[in-house]
Amino acid sequence: MNTWLEHDSENFAAILERTRVVAVDVLQNLETRAVAVPPAVTNFADVSVQGMGFEQALTVFLERFASGFSGSAGSRYLGFVTGGSTPAALAADWLTSTFDQNPTSGLDSSAPDLERECIGMLRQFFGLPTDFDGVFVSGATMSNFVGLAMAREWVANQSGRSVAQHGLCGLPAIKVFSGAAHSSTFKALSMLGMGRNCLETVALLPNREAIDVAALEQALAKQATPCIVVVNAGTVNTVDFDDIVAILELKKRYSFWLHVDAAFGGFAALSPRFSSLVQGLEAADSICIDAHKWLNVPYDAAMSFSRHANLRLEVFQNSAVYLGMPSSTPDFVHLTPENSRRLRALPAWFTLQAYGKAGYQEIVERCCDLALAFAEKIKLEPHFTLLADVRMNVVCFAVTSGANAAFLESLRASGEVFLTPTALHGQAGIRAAFSNWRTTFADLERIWQAMQNALNEVV
Ligand SMILES: Cc1ncc(COP(=O)(O)O)c(C=O)c1O
Repeated sequence: MNTWLEHDSENFAAILERTRVVAVDVLQNLETRAVAVPPAVTNFADVSVQGMGFEQALTVFLERFASGFSGSAGSRYLGFVTGGSTPAALAADWLTSTFDQNPTSGLDSSAPDLERECIGMLRQFFGLPTDFDGVFVSGATMSNFVGLAMAREWVANQSGRSVAQHGLCGLPAIKVFSGAAHSSTFKALSMLGMGRNCLETVALLPNREAIDVAALEQALAKQATPCIVVVNAGTVNTVDFDDIVAILELKKRYSFWLHVDAAFGGFAALSPRFSSLVQGLEAADSICIDAHKWLNVPYDAAMSFSRHANLRLEVFQNSAVYLGMPSSTPDFVHLTPENSRRLRALPAWFTLQAYGKAGYQEIVERCCDLALAFAEKIKLEPHFTLLADVRMNVVCFAVTSGANAAFLESLRASGEVFLTPTALHGQAGIRAAFSNWRTTFADLERIWQAMQNALNEVV
């Protein structure tokens, strides 16, 4: 055995203890760590030939990289849609690596059953009926990819074909309709060989990011063959929701697969204040919901739900005798894009057990209350303009003078708050997304103070 490997193996417990100390230090100092760090030029090191052992590798990591890592797990990182990690999820993530299970096959471990149980819990969590199956994937982009892969197979099946068996050649182009589709849908369509241009963007309601259902009906009426509709449940700028119930009505007259991108909007189901926004979700054909956003588990994890388990199998089956052939309860190797993968369900399972539906309802409602309070402050500050009413956890606004970029730069440099730019209906803006379990009203005051300071530098 390599000398360093033997050394580290003999000191395994000490290595984990040292790592625990580092991790606790990071967590305890999250509030003083720079929330975002402008990336600096890095001189990349060459691979070590002789190795250096864990202790020295840790020293090098702490010296060269750790200080440049952002405080994105903390309470004032409001960029993109970023969750942190709950204590139970973080601890479980360590256990995930410790047990190092590969839940892909059902030949050797109860790990796949933990994933099945967790999917069942999440189904209840989001109010989905039992005819939905589900799997863990790496993120919402992959979940959209999986849902659309099944949709593509369904469309082909309508004319007695199978893309999974014969490919797309010879099939007429598959049409996809959506309103304000997330960019990951276009990426998924590119990866699926359908092409980004197969998506026809349907008109939105005035001053909204929700689809105009009448316009969708007109588009479907012109569509001669079965197609796909991508419904948005929570857009990134204004957390707008398409009217799922009205779109389901169209299913009675037109033949389409309904895929819902509910990456973070799906969490509306947890609160009576917001659950009407996702009414009808239970009748979708496929649903994307992220876990590393509002479920606050560590990267990377998302769920793909569908009522068409047969199509999941058709697309993703990986038949090899040595891995186990598909059975009536197929192993995950036959159900997801990856074969081998980590047990992503474990952090989700732990956090659900630890905090329950009530715990998550509180997180969702607090994040939305924070967004409302933040928007009130924006409204009262003439140097800011609110670009849209707040529906859930995202506030979309602009620096009134147009100095958005300079403001964001100054804010990031402060290390206090991180916000990301956007465009809403062609107007440049800024987003503040509240999705971390840690964020409190005390944070909001600190966030606001940092924003005032940044504003003073640019106006
Ligand atoms: C609505 C929506 N869909 C998809 C995605 C893609 O998510 P991921 O980065 O986890 O792939 C996001 C990310 O913000 C999102 O908000």
